[in-house]
Amino acid sequence: MSLRSSVLPKAVLAAVSVALLTATACSSDDDSSGSSAESATARGPITYVEGKDTTETGVVRQLIDQWNSTHPDEEVTLKEEPSDADQAHDDMVQHLQAKESDYDVLALDVIWTAEFAAKGWLQPLKDDFAVDTAGLLEPTVASGTYNGTLYAAPKNTNGGLLFYRKDLVPNPPTTWAEMMGDCGIAKQNNIGCYSGQFAAYEGLTVNTSEGINANGGAFVGPDGRTATVDSPQARAGLQSLVDGFKDGNIPAEAITFKEQDSQQAFESGKLLFLRNWPYVYGTAAKEGSQVQGKYDVAPLPGVSGVGTSTLGGYNAAISAYSDHKATALDFIKYLTSEQAQRIIAGGSLPPVLGSLYDDPELIAQMPYLPALKQSIANAVPRPVTPYYPAVTKAVQDNAYAALKGEKSVDQAITDMQAGIETAGSK
Ligand code: GLC
Repeated sequence: MSLRSSVLPKAVLAAVSVALLTATACSSDDDSSGSSAESATARGPITYVEGKDTTETGVVRQLIDQWNSTHPDEEVTLKEEPSDADQAHDDMVQHLQAKESDYDVLALDVIWTAEFAAKGWLQPLKDDFAVDTAGLLEPTVASGTYNGTLYAAPKNTNGGLLFYRKDLVPNPPTTWAEMMGDCGIAKQNNIGCYSGQFAAYEGLTVNTSEGINANGGAFVGPDGRTATVDSPQARAGLQSLVDGFKDGNIPAEAITFKEQDSQQAFESGKLLFLRNWPYVYGTAAKEGSQVQGKYDVAPLPGVSGVGTSTLGGYNAAISAYSDHKATALDFIKYLTSEQAQRIIAGGSLPPVLGSLYDDPELIAQMPYLPALKQSIANAVPRPVTPYYPAVTKAVQDNAYAALKGEKSVDQAITDMQAGIETAGSK
């Protein structure tokens, strides 16, 4: 076990984490999100909507089965979205824009809270709908909060890890330069050196922000709204990824990789290093994986020491248009319960309940848990804004063009800055 919690740094840019880009321009046009006594008592079957479950243990099925076994009149039906976060987002937006009541509880990526809340699509979790968040990791509660109100109950959090082949690299690199220095080992073994997620979707925003943050850059400044990505540090971050593709240390096919493609490449023994979310700790151990017993995890590499992850994760929100909000509320409370959080942890999804990270039984199964807790505490959130879709598009489009060699790094960063600056006006 080489995830050394003692060397994980404080996020240099954690200042970005508070009350960000809280523009009010896209205010609610909705009148059904109030907490009337009637809506707080409406019970019946509900639909839970979440992106594809990629865990080895089938976490979502287990959660729903457990709930349904004790709630015969309030059964939860799963609507499974694609695993690509952007596609799941667009489908949920369509249903909510049309004020449809068919999606009761939504598993929202941390980056969607502000947009959905500002549009009036979510039931505020206060008064009759209050959820107890004591005991939940603070950044996860912040990620479900917008303008001081909780809109989504933390469900699972996420922090990136470096998966590495311990049979080939006994001491994992702590810096990007050290990792690139190890790429000769990949060549000798005829495998690719490093991959993250580089297809043009949300995962690319995650990987780009980790590169930029590692080099001391940031998308927005400490006020959370001023675009600050036009900096030498951000250029250096994007350049490191562009160089990786140019010199072949990142294999060419990685330009098409989302989480599962990169996971499969690692599990079929084709990569020395992989940046991915903790769920891979479970899937890479499964039967058929070529790397069973041959991998371990370390913190993401940084510039002069280990790096910091982008904060990921999913929170459970009640649709303003749900007809069974009382059941929906009980279900999201259940998701934060210790019983449910243990199921979540069992699938190598990082739980939001702080105590589980110190639980000896779980640590025996997942020795990286204490260090992951610290990594999540230090993780850097993406910009919090109702205009996030335009922000991430500016990041993805320009990073992708630079990785493909269609734009210089200089131009890509200049255009990214312009795109983030005008995100609110589109
Ligand atoms: C993971 C993270 C989520 C992120 C997504 C990007 O699902 O939990 O926050 O946006 O990956 O692909």
